[in-house]
Amino acid sequence: MKESVSGTTYRIVAIPGDGIGPEVVGAARTVLDGVLATAGRRIEWVEIKVGGGSIDAYGVAIRPEDVELCRTADAVLLGAVGGPQWDDPKASVRPEQALFALRSGLGLYANLRPVSVHPALIGASPLRPELLRDVDLLVVRELTGGIYFGDRTEAAASGSGERTALDSLPYAESEVRRIVRLAFELARGRRHKLTQVDKANVLATSRLWRQVTDEVAREFPDVDLEHRLVDSTAMLLVMRPAAFDVIVTENLFGDILSDEASVLAGSLGVLASASLGERQTRYGTFGLYEPIHGSAPDIAGQDVADPIGTILSGAMLLRWSLGLADAAEAVERAVSTALDDGLRTRDLIPLHAPLAAGLTPLGTAAMAAAIEERLGAPAGVAR
Ligand code: IPM
Ligand code: MG
Repeated sequence: MKESVSGTTYRIVAIPGDGIGPEVVGAARTVLDGVLATAGRRIEWVEIKVGGGSIDAYGVAIRPEDVELCRTADAVLLGAVGGPQWDDPKASVRPEQALFALRSGLGLYANLRPVSVHPALIGASPLRPELLRDVDLLVVRELTGGIYFGDRTEAAASGSGERTALDSLPYAESEVRRIVRLAFELARGRRHKLTQVDKANVLATSRLWRQVTDEVAREFPDVDLEHRLVDSTAMLLVMRPAAFDVIVTENLFGDILSDEASVLAGSLGVLASASLGERQTRYGTFGLYEPIHGSAPDIAGQDVADPIGTILSGAMLLRWSLGLADAAEAVERAVSTALDDGLRTRDLIPLHAPLAAGLTPLGTAAMAAAIEERLGAPAGVAR
């Protein structure tokens, strides 16, 4: 497939999914195709049906052959899955099972969720502006272990007639070590600060996390490590968010803290994520990229969803899986310029009229087109 450096074709699986997924993935594809075209390269997109759409079509959230297809691709770009029609908690087939099958089936153990605040969006967050200046943090969430994958017993009546249920939270030291090591490496490329988050005053797994983290820390004397309990972290994330650099934590705490941290950025709609595994492709590390927002069925099909989270996920894809850091930066700069120019999807327009003055409301597709127009010629992309 790799004919020549300038003619390279990358193979990427697109999973539009449900709700607003198809709209935001379509938007990101426009921008990714645009940035690669400037470098004489292209993406061969392979689209598959996953989530609620797959339940309707095939009776399962994802088919094994679709997981296999992802396994042989250079990367996967996902929109969102789920919606009210598949929401019955008692159903044995649910859209989010596809996410777990992809995460565990593809070994995507590391979920990276960067949160920074674009200066033009400071007013869009409910937090006071002075708290938001200089916020630039990265949540590194363990994604294939812990309570998400531990043994589970659904609620059932016991002898006394009372219903009981059980979830378990297992971690092996190797699972902790690899994610913590990655977090240290990432901290080394940033501000050299790592916060390891747990509930070590209660949970045995958290005490294991602390021990293993301290062992790994010996390899990284240049990184300043702190251990912090998850409850106090939840508080500090809104009281002193700028104090954090890299946060590493287990699956469930990472899920919760990353949604909390998203409030800092002004809208869930602008945040990106990468889920990485160990497999190396010809160009970088294989990964799955998705915005952190969900399928938002209430606004689906109206061309109002914010495409920025998916577009920035595409930038992470360029950087991590395709080894194209310059192209990634070109996309990030284009998003930033569009925001500086006052272009906004409706999630980013303050309800407050005076603050909204000077902003241009755009739909999903127009926002993507405006970002693509601002790509410019990314310097040195054709390395
Ligand atoms: C996320 C989501 C998922 C999770 C849900 C949809 C199962 O909240 O990716 O953060 O909890 O991992
Ligand atoms: Mg979540």
